[in-house]
Formats: sequence, structure tokens, C-alpha cells
Amino acid sequence: MAGTAALDALNAVELGKGETVLISGATGGVGALAVQLAAASGARVIATARPGAEADFIAGLTTIAGVQIVDFTGSLDAQVQAFAPDGLDAVLHLAGDGDQLARLLRPGGRFASTLGVTPEGVTAFSVMADPNPQTLARLAADAASGTLRVPVTAAYPLDRVDEAFAAFGAGTLGKVAITCS
Ligand SMILES: NC(=O)c1ccc[n+]([C@@H]2O[C@H](COP(=O)([O-])OP(=O)(O)OC[C@H]3O[C@@H](n4cnc5c(N)ncnc54)[C@H](OP(=O)(O)O)[C@@H]3O)[C@@H](O)[C@H]2O)c1
Repeated sequence: MAGTAALDALNAVELGKGETVLISGATGGVGALAVQLAAASGARVIATARPGAEADFIAGLTTIAGVQIVDFTGSLDAQVQAFAPDGLDAVLHLAGDGDQLARLLRPGGRFASTLGVTPEGVTAFSVMADPNPQTLARLAADAASGTLRVPVTAAYPLDRVDEAFAAFGAGTLGKVAITCS
């Protein structure tokens, strides 16, 4: 589901090679996959993360150069402007204030949200993940080839599932796994 949401959001904004996309919520389950998929497509990626463990997590997601990190707890406008002075080509809204993020787009920029946010004045898409066979086959192929890695940062046995949910609710990098054997 996370991969499907990431891919559907990227497909919605139709990123061209060399275009710049801001992924807001890059440290989450959807975002960590979107960063990898966007970088592999040849886009310039700007990813949100707090300094420290979150920024290190983003830096470790892909070996493809050019993923820039911005601290969403600071002034996003100034940081993004340093990387994209003419404005962003696209925004993936997976977290944060969608209206504020939309103002970072260049004229004609595209915005896709998995949170149902469609700011006025920009080309905006509300994305509902559609895990159809074609999308799942593409994700599976990318995972099998090593292009796409699912970053599981914690695993819990089934009898400690309550701890897994508590950790997820408190903010987990990437994905949490429950082991059933
Ligand atoms: N429409 C659909 O089909 C669909 C499908 C899947 C998911 N979703 C939705 O999409 C969203 C993302 O899903 P997810 O599974 O990736 O969630 P997640 O794992 O909880 O990730 C959200 C990430 O956003 C970060 N974050 C929080 N506030 C932020 C801000 N102001 N700016 C930038 N990043 C911020 C969080 O970091 P911290 O932990 O440091 O706060 C967290 O790493 C959720 O709202 C989910 O419900 C929708």
C-alpha cells in the first residue's frame, strides 16, 4: 500500500527528468519509497527530515546522488528556495501543511496529496492508492532488482504487536514489521 501510494503520487505529477520535487513526509513509510522511486526516475529530490537520525535515514535510502534534505521544523521556504530558486516543479504532500507547500511551486507546478488536500491555484491531485496488478508488478520488479528497498527499521514478534503500534504512533522511520513465525 505504501509503495502504491508513492508510485501513484509520482505518476500523478508526471515528473520529467531533471525536474525538482519536494517530498514532504519523506521519512515515513510512503515517503521513504517515494524518495527512491523519484531519484531513480532522474528527478532532483528534496526530502523533509529533522536533523540527526531522520536526515541520516534519508541519506541512506539511495546511492543516487542529488537528494537534498530540508528540515521541516525550520523555515521551509528559505531552504527550498536555496535548491529551487525558481520554485518547485512538483510537491508530494504526505505530511505537513499542504497550502504552505503549494506556495513553493513554480507557476504551472503540480501537487499530489495522499491526505486529500487540493490547494487552490495549482494543479492538484488527491491520490487514493490503487494497488492494481500492474502497479504491484512494477514495485515487485523494482524490489527484486534492488532499485527499491523497503526500509524496515524495527521488527516485533506477534505477541508484542501492541509495542509495534505504540512505536508507529510515536513516529517510526520507514516501516515497522511484525514477525509471525
Ligand atoms: N490516500 C492513500 O491511498 C494513502 C495511502 C497510504 C498512506 N496515506 C496517508 O499518507 C500519509 C503518509 O503515510 P505514511 O504511512 O508514510 O505515514 P508515516 O509513516 O506516519 O510518515 C509520516 C512522516 O511524516 C513526517 N512528518 C510529520 N510532520 C511533518 C511535517 N510537518 N513535514 C514533513 N514531514 C513531517 C513524520 O516524521 P516524524 O515522525 O518525525 O513526525 C513521519 O516520518 C498518512 O497521512 C497516511 O494516512 C494515504
